[in-house]
Amino acid sequence: MKNISESRELFGSRFGIIAATAGSAVGLGNIWRFPYVAGANGGGAFLLIYVGFVLAIGIPVMLSEFVIGRAAHKNAIGSFRALAPGKPWYLVGIMGIGAAFMILAFYTAVAGWTLEYVYQSIIDGFSGKTPEQLEEMFTGFRSSSFRPLLWFFIFMILTAWIIMSGVKKGIEKSTKILMPLLVIILLILCVRSLTLPGASEGVKFLFKPDFSKITPRSVLEALGQAFFSLSIGMGTLITYASYVPKHNNLMKTSGYVAMVDTVIAILAGLAIFPAVFAFNIPPMSGEGLVFMTLPNIFGQMSGGYFFSIIFFVLLTVAALTSTISLLEVIVAFFVEELKIKRKAATWISAILVSILGIVATLSWGTLKGVKIFGKMIFDFLDYTSANILLPLGGFFIVLFVAWFFGRDKVEAELTNNGKLKSKLLLFFYFAIRFLAPLCIAFIFLNGIGLLRF
Ligand code: TRP
Repeated sequence: MKNISESRELFGSRFGIIAATAGSAVGLGNIWRFPYVAGANGGGAFLLIYVGFVLAIGIPVMLSEFVIGRAAHKNAIGSFRALAPGKPWYLVGIMGIGAAFMILAFYTAVAGWTLEYVYQSIIDGFSGKTPEQLEEMFTGFRSSSFRPLLWFFIFMILTAWIIMSGVKKGIEKSTKILMPLLVIILLILCVRSLTLPGASEGVKFLFKPDFSKITPRSVLEALGQAFFSLSIGMGTLITYASYVPKHNNLMKTSGYVAMVDTVIAILAGLAIFPAVFAFNIPPMSGEGLVFMTLPNIFGQMSGGYFFSIIFFVLLTVAALTSTISLLEVIVAFFVEELKIKRKAATWISAILVSILGIVATLSWGTLKGVKIFGKMIFDFLDYTSANILLPLGGFFIVLFVAWFFGRDKVEAELTNNGKLKSKLLLFFYFAIRFLAPLCIAFIFLNGIGLLRF
């Protein structure tokens, strides 16, 4: 048998695999998106539904991607081609590459904002400003052209630079440093936030379920958030799993990654809501939460200068370990399917994504009037990818593993040819055969309005 490690780079260690994969999962989705989505959908009740989805659907979909990627040792499209030659399953991979473009475009725009806010923190740009001024600062910045684009490009170049260095020296090495840094910063922020007088209101908000706020739409939001946050449904994890050596325990890895991702989302909530409530600031819903509400709090909090710098560095780090995973999906495809050298493939991908990214970045300013299906460009990219493409991708990925790939091959991949045992295998089959596809279909159809319950 040909030794795959000769022809293809692999991750070097178990910690590296978890750091890279959890790095993909943990991102703006946890620290920027989760708190405001949870805040708008009833706090604790949303959290419960969310955790349920992670366990019952998220982990099975994640494992399915792992199985596909590691069995084929190829990129998102190539994997389907290798495992199902001559069949149309590779279309799922194509949809995934499309989703990677869309997500990376708007995601890097927001990642760029985090750099602006690191800069503003360092120059002490928040202190002495009223909430209105801070709001103006954010909306003014976001709707301008030059600065958001500048930061967009800086972030894109940073991402491309890591990807160019390869799987081990780029992705693995950077995430092994960045992920522990992220955890340390987040813990410091949690301690600060939780020790503020009046912090308990925020804790209550996050954990006390208010089911009256749950609507069919918020259930869809919880599923979309789970997919987005776990980086599943579009082949990111197929791509990463293709770099995982055969002896790794995929079941354990998926458990760790899902756990780290969920714990970090909760910690982000614990770093944000107690402070929001302690300063008696209405938890502004929507994407302005971390960019308008928090600077206001930092301006009033003792040590706020320091905490605002580390908070926005945290956001930047979280975003970076995710953008590299998105870019890698596209680059791996270019390298393997189109036979382009890694360096050139990285530049080409980054330039192509940047074209869409410029549009996304400017959608708050110059392109404000442009609407797609009634949504501004940025919201269109965000909504379509998280609530439509990812669930759709996840649906077909689990169907592929559950009904097409063959149970013996799935089992061989999960148990490393019978070496590992797990009582959860039966649950996994049940989840990917029935539970996940049915839940995804039901919630998806309801969310897009084709079905009403
Ligand atoms: N999961 C990341 C976050 O929570 C974003 C992300 C990275 C992603 N890769 C992805 C989302 C693939 C969906 C699919 O911020």
